[in-house]
Amino acid sequence: MNTPKSNPRLTRLEISIFEQRCQLYLPDAHEALRQIYGEREDFDQWVDEFRQIAFQAYARRPAPLRALDLQRLHEPDWYQRSDQVGYICYVDRFCGTLKKLPEKIPYLRELGVTYLHLMPLLQPGPDPNDGGYAVMNYREVDPRLGTMRDLAQVAKKLREEGISLCIDLVCNHTADMHEWAVKAKEGDPTYQDYYLTFPDRTLTDQYDQTLREIFPETAPGNFLYIEEMKQWVWNTFNRYQWDLNYANPAVFGEMLEIILYLANNGVEVLRLDAVAFMWKKMGTSCENLPEAHAILQAFRAFSKLAAPGLVFKAEAIVAPQDVVPYLGTGRFTNKECELAYHNSLMVYMWSMLAERNVVLSTYSLQELPEIPSIASWVTYVRCHDDIGWAIMDEYAAAVGLNGFWHRSFLSDFYSGDFEGSFARGTVFQFNPETMDRRISGACASLAGLETALEGGDPYEIELAIRRILLIHNLVFAAGGIPLIYMGDEIGLLNDYSYTEDAAKKGDSRWMHRPLMDWDLAQQRFSSHQPAGRIFQGLRHLAQARKNTPALHSQAASKAVWTHNDHVFGLLRYSPRGRILLLGNFSEEPQQVPSYRLEELGFQGELIDHLTGQIKSTHFELLLQPFEALWLEGQ
Ligand code: GLC
Repeated sequence: MNTPKSNPRLTRLEISIFEQRCQLYLPDAHEALRQIYGEREDFDQWVDEFRQIAFQAYARRPAPLRALDLQRLHEPDWYQRSDQVGYICYVDRFCGTLKKLPEKIPYLRELGVTYLHLMPLLQPGPDPNDGGYAVMNYREVDPRLGTMRDLAQVAKKLREEGISLCIDLVCNHTADMHEWAVKAKEGDPTYQDYYLTFPDRTLTDQYDQTLREIFPETAPGNFLYIEEMKQWVWNTFNRYQWDLNYANPAVFGEMLEIILYLANNGVEVLRLDAVAFMWKKMGTSCENLPEAHAILQAFRAFSKLAAPGLVFKAEAIVAPQDVVPYLGTGRFTNKECELAYHNSLMVYMWSMLAERNVVLSTYSLQELPEIPSIASWVTYVRCHDDIGWAIMDEYAAAVGLNGFWHRSFLSDFYSGDFEGSFARGTVFQFNPETMDRRISGACASLAGLETALEGGDPYEIELAIRRILLIHNLVFAAGGIPLIYMGDEIGLLNDYSYTEDAAKKGDSRWMHRPLMDWDLAQQRFSSHQPAGRIFQGLRHLAQARKNTPALHSQAASKAVWTHNDHVFGLLRYSPRGRILLLGNFSEEPQQVPSYRLEELGFQGELIDHLTGQIKSTHFELLLQPFEALWLEGQ
């Protein structure tokens, strides 16, 4: 090992810590990298180069963050605990700039927030830039929001308040204005090799046969001809987002350096964007390939050398059986990302609300494999993206539904095309080839609050509030860090003003990326206003979750039949306890038979952790419209 022992800033002890970490993690790094660069003659040099990158970052890691690393070693399950509550926001839409963010920490604390995901904030290319997902410089913050120093300050202040900072790392692609892309356009072969370029359509046409379209309406096709370069370049998403070429180890090295640079500025969780697309192979969908997993496993192993406290969150919005591997399976169990989005749960909650029936969701969620022991979901009802109806045809068929027509029904229902629907949303990216229609819309509008407020019917308003609270209830109990999407806590409705902005009007996802309404937030203490009801409801959920350690992410999470098609059941169990979550997805009161509760092992007196009330299985269990219970045996 040729660690530069002369580095003046490191003591012998510090160097020996690094060497110990190398012994622990380098074998994993080797194994992962062999899958992608194993054939190269210079393989060993590259591994050494990556280790050097990690070493340099280790040497520069600020003392408070080293202390954090140590703390994390003592509580490695911190992100799995039931006291975790997440919040997602755009800095500009929430508070203006990074400097102003600390003023809002008390508001976040009121909600019980312990994890804050700030939406893309690294310097993006000029508008349009996909809401910041086209990054021009990974080492600078968007100047509209502040500087890297401001970000480090925010991270520090949040940490002092017990809040972990998460930011996005767009690692699949860069903006076409990124310095690498600019050099590539200028003809520099080194940087052309950072991207996937093709002199003509021979190969691209072959690839196209098995690729899916992500933005079929606004960015059809997966390749773009770049006149300056006289080459085609791969672009999965928008035309200005160029996919990186991870087959080139230099790209891996650059991204590793960036990961550690952000970690050293105080970022505790990195949301790795669009990870499913990081490796391409002819004849495949170029999604979820083993090599994409190998890249993540290697990122993790090397980052453990320098910043062992850093946590990775995979953004892989793919079919349910393809998501769990991002949490590390097989030989790489517990060795990939610690967190991943529970997209299925999100989709099924909206499906249950529309259908008032839990059969498809129960069946489908039962099919989802358990996640590894150190992993955790992040659970959510809405995020900044659209809702794609990831409902498998096989699962739908198994419960007597037609997958295509069910997805179609959900698109109709949530775009307001279904008679009697309570929802207000709109279609995002209609694909005429597959007839697929994804959905945009704010949580409150999709759950009926917008329609109900317009109609002025207190009963409908009440139902909408209950729907919002019910799906959040599941998000808080299902296992994982519950994420509250900015504005949902006060029932912010769809924002239609995006259609007036030229850079946004082609992208209906801006409908649910509103400006924070601080005037409305003033109503958060009022139990007579929807904003107050929802805010207090979520706050209560955060407290109840904190007081229920059995909801730790290590507890198994199994959907169970309740013998009532309107009542969803979820069993959470571990040595910490057994909780039965029940949720009534209908406008009518519903009963769960007591024999069923007993079959599930819940007998006699049960405590509801949400209210502290005792329920007895001597009688049928009654649930009010959209009511949820968290039951545990006494
Ligand atoms: C992720 C982001 C989405 C973005 C895409 C391309 O899916 O969540 O908003 O459009 O990546 O970066």
